Amino acid sequence: MQVREYTFSFEVFNSIEELTILDSLLLNKAKEATIHAYAPYSKFRVAAAARLGNGEIILGTNQENASYPAGICAERVLLSTSSSIFPSVPIETIAITYKNENGLSNHPISPCGICRQTLQEYEQRQKTSIRLLLGGLEGNIYVISNASLLMPLAFTSNELK
Ligand code: THU
Repeated sequence: MQVREYTFSFEVFNSIEELTILDSLLLNKAKEATIHAYAPYSKFRVAAAARLGNGEIILGTNQENASYPAGICAERVLLSTSSSIFPSVPIETIAITYKNENGLSNHPISPCGICRQTLQEYEQRQKTSIRLLLGGLEGNIYVISNASLLMPLAFTSNELK
């Protein structure tokens, strides 16, 4: 028997003022986009903004449905949109934020399991890292250098060969 360990490191910034101009601009774009979320059921508006290799910024927001499982998270809306508009342009960084209409937005949220699986595959496809900036409307910001770090022991297309 052996024990294997998985650890990863990420950066924590105290506020948006500590980020680079490019990163703070991206997070602000995500914050602005929370208004476009369709979240009448959860009242939890999530937005993601991606900066692509060609400088474009793409937005995605959560889109809910009266048939709850039909709803889709902001991250996967963003990834599908980016891949549909700029299929061969890599995503460099994604900022993810939220506005909780029933509570606070003062700490980072991180992508759900399905979105982690999806992010992992987009990273594998583009063969370069997707950096994540996670932050609420206020408070700390986490910077994760590589989205796949959130998905240890991922099931990938390699298994299907
Ligand atoms: N949601 C996202 O859009 N992204 C996440 O990473 C977590 C959750 C959405 C799904 C649902 O519309 C609402 O937030 C509450 O779960």
